[in-house]
Amino acid sequence: MPCEVAARFLILYGSQRGQAQSIAEEIGQQAAEHGFTADISCLSNQHKYNVDHEIRPVVFVVSTTGDVDPPDTAQKFVRKIKNKSLAHDHFSHLRYALLALGDTNYANFCNGGKTIDSRLQQLGAKHFYATGHADDGTGLEVVVDPWIEGLWDALKKLFSSMSTSNQQGTDLRDCTQDNYHKNASGQEKNKSDLEVDLHLLKLSEVDSEKGKTITSDTSDVETLSTALVASLKQSVPTLSESVLNVPALPASYLEVHLEQGSTEREQNIAYQPGDAFDILCPNRASEVEELLLRLDLQTQNNCAVQVNLLKNSSKKAAKVPLHIPQNGSLQFILTWCLEIRSTPKKAFVRALADFTQNGSEKRRLLELCSKEGSADYNSFVRDANVCLLDLLRAFPSCLPPLSLLFEHLTKLQPRAYSAASSSLQHPGKVHFVFNVVEFPARPEHPARTGLCTGWLADHVSSILRPLGTVPASEHLGTSALPKVHVRPRPSSTFHLPADPSIPVVMVGPGTGVASFIGFLEQREKEREVNQEATFGETWLFFGCRHKDKDFLFREELERFAHNRILSHLIVCFSRDEPDAAGTLNSPTYVQHNLRLHAKNVASILLKDKGCLYVCGDAKNMAKDVNDTLLEIIGNELQIDKLDAMKIVAGLREEKRYLQDIWS
Ligand code: 2AM
Repeated sequence: MPCEVAARFLILYGSQRGQAQSIAEEIGQQAAEHGFTADISCLSNQHKYNVDHEIRPVVFVVSTTGDVDPPDTAQKFVRKIKNKSLAHDHFSHLRYALLALGDTNYANFCNGGKTIDSRLQQLGAKHFYATGHADDGTGLEVVVDPWIEGLWDALKKLFSSMSTSNQQGTDLRDCTQDNYHKNASGQEKNKSDLEVDLHLLKLSEVDSEKGKTITSDTSDVETLSTALVASLKQSVPTLSESVLNVPALPASYLEVHLEQGSTEREQNIAYQPGDAFDILCPNRASEVEELLLRLDLQTQNNCAVQVNLLKNSSKKAAKVPLHIPQNGSLQFILTWCLEIRSTPKKAFVRALADFTQNGSEKRRLLELCSKEGSADYNSFVRDANVCLLDLLRAFPSCLPPLSLLFEHLTKLQPRAYSAASSSLQHPGKVHFVFNVVEFPARPEHPARTGLCTGWLADHVSSILRPLGTVPASEHLGTSALPKVHVRPRPSSTFHLPADPSIPVVMVGPGTGVASFIGFLEQREKEREVNQEATFGETWLFFGCRHKDKDFLFREELERFAHNRILSHLIVCFSRDEPDAAGTLNSPTYVQHNLRLHAKNVASILLKDKGCLYVCGDAKNMAKDVNDTLLEIIGNELQIDKLDAMKIVAGLREEKRYLQDIWS
């Protein structure tokens, strides 16, 4: 149906790491090409829209954070629609479509979107297009691209039926011809230049003009996040230095001293075991430099950047990204504000092709982002963890303007790490344990470490104690220690039961043991303060590769078992050779030990109303543990898998089966 005037709809996104936002923006951009006008807003901007009275069709794009939660930015909206006093037809006026993002590595796939979807349905809202569920585990594009493609027909049908029945037609349409596809008149030119105008000003000019100093140091980070400044100190309470220095075994243990800042917020740094901390780390200096060089901007790294939306922008949804501070230096923005390591989405690849001179390079880029090139995109870009710099290396004639980067690169996100300590035992400090993520060399890029773990490890190694000497940090004093920006990220559920007599089963192989160290330190301290303190049965299932190499927190765990803080410490080693008697041969993974203790586990969960905590790898371990749990419950109650699944769902519902997992 050719649209004579632009039909108007609203896009609302709930985004945690920027994925849902960039997909929402992509929909907004494509809308004009299909003859629609799209308004776009974050779900948190409730003063800008009111779904209670929204007569435009609404397209929701909602991600999921952690295992089950809608993103932080959608929490308020979810609370609002969950209000029990809302009438059953509260949203009967609403026509909507919903794209949910999730990851099948987590048990509650797409739960953020599903929660909103089912509640809107309950309250009378109607789909005008089937809900899409996109899986980050296999590639969001697989669902997102065809879903967006189908959206346009669904919208056309909806508007057409609305105008036929003469309902709301005039309200839904934007009658100004101006707004219809205003700038799409054959202007092949780059879309980004139409949107974002950059003013690169020399520092001196900015200073004299505005009397303002532009800094490019990390103090500007304070304007981006209310980060606490902490000093980083490496300590090795259980691992010997020789083990820590073995590159094949990169587990590192950090102690971060939370510096008491001047603001009230900074002075109240409280956390409970089970909470995590966001760590904000900068992009690698070498990668920022290479990017500047590759974009011919190396001489402008100290210039101030001002981003403007051009008045004749064709894209209704376009706006200046909030995470790019006006007048921050270019170096600062590339270092602290943009996720330069992220995998470019197809829309970005398509836009890069517009700035590629060489014909065959351009064709290859277009092929990668075409529908037919999906498999290629997945294997050469997504699965290969390719980033912008890798693409620029592989396509030497591609020279995008900075505005394109600002448009497509999402905000640099902090990375969450579970606290491996109790603040009762370590006031003013928090401990973390992590493995350095390693990406092996591929034809598409050289070997590299994960952004944050690599950065932390670099700083740790700069103060690593040479064997047999006093730790370098003790010579340096705290002022010379590296700084890291952290912010508490409290968990709403992953805590010890309020009643200490409730039995608990903890499953945490590898660095998944972190939160449990916090739990057990807390109880150890409570016992120290009150010798009479008693706790319900406390089981820990831990696993690692080698007893003598990566048994994290071995001393502490054995101490907890000795002091009866832990009633059962069950450990397995996946790669130790069997000893002569073959005793080390069998249980290799935590779930094998769970099976061996099936009776106790079942009794704790089914009879004693105890809690099961699982922490660590989502992709394999958490899934296998979940399957084992189904098996244990099925055997114990003599029921089939489906019924066992219902019981496990009930445990989750009652917050007695809790996961803190990551992939
Ligand atoms: P692996 O590396 O020898 O395979 C901590 O990472 C421990 O978890 C290691 O001993 C690791 O064994 C083990 N692990 C790997 N996959 C697992 C799975 N699916 N379930 C449970 N533990 C697993």
